[in-house]
Parts: sequence; C-alpha cells; structure tokens
Amino acid sequence: MRGARKGPVDRMYSFLTGLSCPRCGQWVPADHLTNLCGCGSPLLAAYDLEAAAREFPRAALARRAPTLWRYHEVLPVRDPAHVVTLGEGMTPLLPLPRAGAAIGLQDLWLKDEGLNPTGTFKARGAAVGVSRAWELGARALAMPTAGNAGGAWAAYAARAGLPLDVVMPADAPAVNMREAAVCGARTHLVRGLISDAGAMVGRFVAGGVAFDCSTLKEPYRVEGKKTMGYEILEQFGWEPPSAIIYPAGGGVGVIGVWKALGEMRSLGWLRGPAPRLVVVQAEGCRPIVEAWRAGVDDVDFWQGAATAAAGLRVPRPLGGALTLRALRETGGTALAVSDAELLAAMRHLAEAEGIWACPEGAAGLAAAERLRAEGFFTAADRVVVLNTGCGLKYPDLVAAELPLLGPTDDLPVRR
Ligand SMILES: Cc1ncc(COP(=O)(O)O)c(C=O)c1O
Ligand SMILES: [Zn+2]
Repeated sequence: MRGARKGPVDRMYSFLTGLSCPRCGQWVPADHLTNLCGCGSPLLAAYDLEAAAREFPRAALARRAPTLWRYHEVLPVRDPAHVVTLGEGMTPLLPLPRAGAAIGLQDLWLKDEGLNPTGTFKARGAAVGVSRAWELGARALAMPTAGNAGGAWAAYAARAGLPLDVVMPADAPAVNMREAAVCGARTHLVRGLISDAGAMVGRFVAGGVAFDCSTLKEPYRVEGKKTMGYEILEQFGWEPPSAIIYPAGGGVGVIGVWKALGEMRSLGWLRGPAPRLVVVQAEGCRPIVEAWRAGVDDVDFWQGAATAAAGLRVPRPLGGALTLRALRETGGTALAVSDAELLAAMRHLAEAEGIWACPEGAAGLAAAERLRAEGFFTAADRVVVLNTGCGLKYPDLVAAELPLLGPTDDLPVRR
C-alpha cells in the first residue's frame, strides 16, 4: 500500500531538521520512531526556519487547500505521499457578538474545532501523528486516551491501514468507545483514569508490538495541534489577538500554539506582542492551575480527578512544565471553573449563538467571563476561545434537563 502511493520526494515539502529536548537540549535525529528524550522530557520537532523564511512566503498560502497541510513546510511529514488526511483543519473563526456582549467583551471570537473530522481538534494531532508514524514505518500503534483522541486516532489509523489499540476509562463518553471501535481499533476499557490507561499501554508496547502514541511521548501530535495557532493568525490577517483561551487536559494544544507563535516569529509572520495564552481547567481536575498559583515549574498528580468535561480529566499532564512555560512567556494565566459554570456556559452559547460547544470548549467561555470580571481582560481585548470539540459528542450532558414539549397533536401558540 505504502509503496503504491509513494511519489518523488519534494525536498522542500518539510523543513524538519530533527527533534530537540526543551529540558536538557539533547538533539535527536528525527528519521526513526522515537518517544521521550533520555532525560524523560517530551521532544519537540525542529525546523530550518531560516530556510523556510526564505522559501515559504506566507503569500503562498492563498493558493493552498483549506486544510492544516497548507503549512506543510513546518510540519514533520517529509513525503506528501505519506499524508493521511480526512480534510482536517482550517476550521471557522466566528465572532460571538451576543455571548461577548453578555460578559462585557466587545471582540470575542470562537474557533470552532468541532467541525474537524471526528468532531474535535484531536483530528489535527491524529492526522499528523499517524502520517508521520506511517512514514517512519510503524506497523501498529497503541495509545491511552480520555476519549476523543482515541476516536480520532482510530479514524486516521483506519485511513492509513494501521492497526491500533486504544485504552480509555470505562466511564469515558460512550460515543468515544463506539467511534474507536467502529473504525476497527481494538478498544479496551479500564477502571480508572487516562493515567491508568497509560500504564497499561506502557506495559503493552514494552514488548515492541506497537509504537506508543501517548500524548507527548509521541513527538508529532503537538505539530498537528500547533496549526491552530497558524490558522488563528492567518484568519485574522496576521494581526495577533490579545489572548487565546485553551481548555487543558494534557496541554498539548496550548504547547502547540505557543510553539507556533515562536515559529511564526522566526518566519517573520508574527510582529508585536504575542497573544496571552490562557489555560482553563475544571475545578475537579486542576493540576496545572494549582502549579501556576504556587509559582512552581512542574505539575503534581491531581488526586480524585472528576469533571463532566471528560477531556480535562488528566491528573498528571506530562507536558506540565512546557504548559507553565507557555503561560509565563506570553503573560498568560491559568484558572479553574466549576462544572456548573461550564455547563451553564455551554447552554448559554448554544442559545445565544447557535454553537453547541463541547463542555471543554464551553469552559473557555466561562473563563473569559471570569477574566473580564476580574479585569484581566479589558472590554476591547480581542479574545479567542478555542472550542475544542462539538457538543453533539456529549448528548447526555444536556438531554435530561432540556424542556421537550409533548407528545402532542397541536402546537401551543407562542406568547
Ligand atoms: C474536547 C477536548 N478538549 C480538550 C481536551 C484537552 O486536550 P489536551 O489533553 O491535549 O490538553 C481534550 C482531551 O481529551 C478533549 O477531548
Ligand atoms: Zn532531555
């Protein structure tokens, strides 16, 4: 299959040069399957940005298809024949005039990641991660997930023809189990959290039977997610917004956007101050928020993680140190909202704007309200909420409380 699709390699398709460790500075060649640095830190992809700045003018983007592969020079896949795609990326960036007015923000926006394949931004990481694993010769993949990543990786693994083992909490959203299983992934349920699932995957891959695609142990998923940062700037005509609010579990999205900001700075695409990066978590699982408040450099395990926003139930994010650095370097912050607040924001956003956000994305709107009330944002700040997924994936979160009328034969007159 791979041989059949192979074409001539365009040398400039990717400017990837290698992997580098943000903790100890170790340089690792990129052209074989790799997980963590020897020091235990995630590795990050590096590019020849000087060459890219010369040969990848942003004007070139105007002629490219509306998917995240429009930024292929700063993505790790070397041969376009290895791109595994379902049309991910270039999601709508929508103004929220009513929702903004209600909380005193005149220039509030939402990037709607719910329109990606499989209904969440996890499609970005899966598209790039699966493409690169396939390119590097992986024969089988395995990963723990809070839910949505499992569905996304199952879809892209199926698209690539690669077998995948997914392990998720037994109380993950039902749709995540079904979407993974229907795409042919062996879907295992574990009594516990994503951290327990991760330990199971670690034991499984130790035998060399599959490549470990755990968040940030696999270096390329973050490259897919960083394209949210490129898109936000491109969609605003290269005028950076004041802030971007990201609902963090493992934190890959915010690390990715931070990385993208640095790359765009080197490419000459970002001038002036970078957007402040803001992390929101749920009260019931807020390890990053606690570390931020304590002013420490890494994140402790959060005991008893519980929240309706299943994607935020990550008790010990491997990329905690990088997330804290992203917040610090951009003048951002971290805060937690309660489940009651994020569910109310979800209902309000749907009624006010017609956007049924996932609970994780809705937490971002609740965070925007809090930060405006506290004066962190001014009324004129341009604030972007990343809605990381589609509310349709969580029907049970609203089904019980919504007023349905009837069964009836006649419509009552509206008064
Ligand atoms: C809808 C949604 N939003 C946000 C997140 C958090 O993503 P990350 O763990 O990459 O920070 C998840 C993770 O599962 C998710 O499914
Ligand atoms: Zn290292």
